[in-house]
Amino acid sequence: MLSNSKSLFDRAQRVIPSGVNSPVRYYDPFPFFAVSGKGSTMRTADNETYIDYCMGYGALLLGHSYSTVTESVKSRIDDGSLFCVPTEEEIQLAELISKAVQCAEMIRLVNTGMEATMNAIRLARAFTKKKKVVKFDGCYHGAYDYVLPKPGVDASISDGIINEASSQTLVLPYNDSETLEQVVKEDDDVGCVIVEPVAANMGLVLPEKQYLNEIRRITRHNNIVLIFDEVVTGFRLALGGAGEFFGIKPDLATFAKAIGNGFPIAAITGKREIMQQLSPSGKVYQASTYAGNPACVSASIATIEVLCKAKNEIYPKIARTCDNIVSGIKDALKDFKLDCTINNIGSMFQLFFTDEKVKNAVSANKSDPIMFRKLFNELLKRGVFIPPSRLETCFISYSHSEDDADKTVESYYESLREVKQS
Ligand SMILES: Cc1ncc(COP(=O)(O)O)c(C=O)c1O
Repeated sequence: MLSNSKSLFDRAQRVIPSGVNSPVRYYDPFPFFAVSGKGSTMRTADNETYIDYCMGYGALLLGHSYSTVTESVKSRIDDGSLFCVPTEEEIQLAELISKAVQCAEMIRLVNTGMEATMNAIRLARAFTKKKKVVKFDGCYHGAYDYVLPKPGVDASISDGIINEASSQTLVLPYNDSETLEQVVKEDDDVGCVIVEPVAANMGLVLPEKQYLNEIRRITRHNNIVLIFDEVVTGFRLALGGAGEFFGIKPDLATFAKAIGNGFPIAAITGKREIMQQLSPSGKVYQASTYAGNPACVSASIATIEVLCKAKNEIYPKIARTCDNIVSGIKDALKDFKLDCTINNIGSMFQLFFTDEKVKNAVSANKSDPIMFRKLFNELLKRGVFIPPSRLETCFISYSHSEDDADKTVESYYESLREVKQS
């Protein structure tokens, strides 16, 4: 059935490590290969069509090949794909972001989420003149040295990272403001706290009531720069991201993914006095050849303009679709007497094969990997593609229809029956 993907994978493995250009794309025995995407679906090299809930890991808020966005890129690139001098559109985009996001007094455009968080952390350290960074176990901010340590001393997720780089990062439990308060009380060298306001990289984990307010209070009180990593939540949870959704103003916020609906563009945003530390006016060096390139800027302008114009229609619709899917899954779980946990918010959800409340990385990791793998495979057989890892999140786009939701609920129902029987 997947013979084309299999032979493409065999070919890929000869020239691409593990046959994939990002590790999470691999799953056993080999991933399907995509040829096109339209709306809520992706078509594969084997001529299968899947309803997609990976959606570029959250990037495709409007859906695959959303015509307003793709048309704006097509018409822009005929006039040049890279200038490396400023353009008026970069100002237009920065003005749009500043209007939508409360903390975004100034904006610097970059290309990826990783670049945005890395430079935001550097800015925070420079501004506070303090070395240490607090991150939370299970939150992901990119694949670079300061943000890859595991909890505990001298442990890192990756080989090749020197302890000198990662030892200045303290990894604390998510949803535990008391530990944060204790740590910063005892250590006056913490200059930065970076957090996913809704954690979407340990499955989906919601901040408990008051957690984010507490982080804000503690960081403000201790002269620590608070960074909201809104790479997933930005423009998805609300036009103004998690900052707007929860009514909290961080010092810096980073955006990527939904900001460009599938085009590689990201932004470091925040308070003027911190952002002005960036070079050349300030002493914090950050640079990029492709930052603010015309294709991605036009994709982002088109995306944000659609979101601004139709926000009263888009955000309720994607949340409603998500609620319908989640309530269908809950019914199936009840029917099959499966003690699972579902977390959902806005247009995001994840099912955990554990009966424990999932509120941090320790509880998320209790989700049974074998049951999840079975669910993934059964859904795939029925034309539904979810992210292959139990520690990722399912994303709904504006292009997902009621029919998609009905078909998805049906597929979950049948798949969960198979999981129960296995
Ligand atoms: C919350 C968060 N921050 C940062 C990143 C890194 O973004 P990118 O993959 O664009 O470098 C990701 C990627 O998944 C993310 O989910």
